[in-house]
Amino acid sequence: MTWEIADFLETVNDRLHINGVDAVELAREYGTPLFVYSEPRIRYNIERLKKAAEVIDRPLKLCYAAKAMSTLGILRAVKDAGSDIEVNSGGELWKALKAGFTGEQINYNGNSKEIWELELAIENEIYAIQVDSIYELSLIEQTAKRLGKRANVSLRLVPEIKTSTHSGLQTAMVTSKFGMMPDEAFAAFAKYKDSPDLNMCGIHLHIGSQNPEPQAYVEAFRMLTDSMMRIYDATGIRLKHINLGGGFPVNYLRDNPIASQFPTEQREMFAADFEPADAVGGAWREARQFADDCGSSHLFDDLTLLLEPGRSIIADAGICLTTVRNAKQRPIDNGQRTIDNGQSEHEKLSTFHYPLSADNWLLTDAGFNILLSMETYKWYYHLISAERAGEPHETPYKLAGPLCDGGDVYFDHEGLNRLPDHRLLPENVQPGEVLALLNCGAYSLAQASQYNGRLLPAVVLTKETGGSELIRKRDNFDDLINRDIF
Ligand SMILES: Cc1ncc(COP(=O)(O)O)c(C=O)c1O
Repeated sequence: MTWEIADFLETVNDRLHINGVDAVELAREYGTPLFVYSEPRIRYNIERLKKAAEVIDRPLKLCYAAKAMSTLGILRAVKDAGSDIEVNSGGELWKALKAGFTGEQINYNGNSKEIWELELAIENEIYAIQVDSIYELSLIEQTAKRLGKRANVSLRLVPEIKTSTHSGLQTAMVTSKFGMMPDEAFAAFAKYKDSPDLNMCGIHLHIGSQNPEPQAYVEAFRMLTDSMMRIYDATGIRLKHINLGGGFPVNYLRDNPIASQFPTEQREMFAADFEPADAVGGAWREARQFADDCGSSHLFDDLTLLLEPGRSIIADAGICLTTVRNAKQRPIDNGQRTIDNGQSEHEKLSTFHYPLSADNWLLTDAGFNILLSMETYKWYYHLISAERAGEPHETPYKLAGPLCDGGDVYFDHEGLNRLPDHRLLPENVQPGEVLALLNCGAYSLAQASQYNGRLLPAVVLTKETGGSELIRKRDNFDDLINRDIF
């Protein structure tokens, strides 16, 4: 099967196995929906990213972007695999400390920080607070002064680099909400260069998530290098680190047979696939050359390069098991109903090569309350039968989740064809069959809600040493009302 990955995702006796653990047995033991994460795959992904260290001649600090998934058991697995951490709120910072990360391992982003969050960061002497605005810098200065500690700060720049990712994942344009204009940052370096309260140690940018073009990292690195030189020339400050952010893509379409059915733009984004180490290596070489040409190569002498990857560490390490709970057939109203792009429903289906007279609907227990991006960004997660993983997946079904929303479906309900209308599964799927959504470890459970009174799923980790362990219990009724006052 094209989705298989040796020693990780395999078909054994017709069933999906994750690192040798039978997915259907896990589903029966813990109930569905169930997230299964692979510790060996997390390690593999971290090692893959760390290869960037081999192509640069300075230290590389890898900080896992906790926003992608921050259950404590996952944070522990990430830490044990040798990564530091990037957090995006006081809550994530607290969780990182709970998971055993030291202040020196923590990097803190965020565009709307509160004083208590800054206090937590400064008291724990974290590696750097990424500063989003000049106003925020003044808050950090006051807070540090009050606490009698010098805060390490790194200013987040707007690089104005557009990539072909989803518009909701773009973070680097002047129209986006993040960061400060370079000139503002240069003025701030000049103003605070001798501050007893602020250690102005770095600069940062993040061009967005699931970026399909490696060239964007070259541009980003050149921009950071240029900024580093301008800061030194104007203030004499030698930066301790530059932070290239995250955003390395995951191939969500890995050879899958319906890839050709996506519009070009979607396909290029979902199937983006390049080695992060190659992109970073190429960017590093060009940036060094540029600095050499400008007589500034000495600025690299004590420099550390930071990366903040989330998706590329955790997305393909996570699988969501879901059970079909209901099934029905619906006639297709041939040509009667038109959709937004002017095609009739019938024409659209012919484009997708399924000459159907009726739609087979399957209603699962995994909705957008645990896979929010499927609705907001029309994100694609490949679906297979966990029980009949080895059978041909050639029968088209319409899939939907359990929520009381017409938008809780696995296709593009807005009719813009950003997702296939049908998913291919074995023949005759019936209620009770366990299915598996692949590559959904990032930005899924991390964004989940109990909408419709749904109990949040359990999480299981398959272990480096074999077997599996429960790392998050499924919610119970009490969790639905825990904070309510009645
Ligand atoms: C500042 C910052 N760093 C890192 C990341 C992680 O991005 P990704 O998960 O695409 O690697 C994000 C998420 O978009 C981010 O906003």
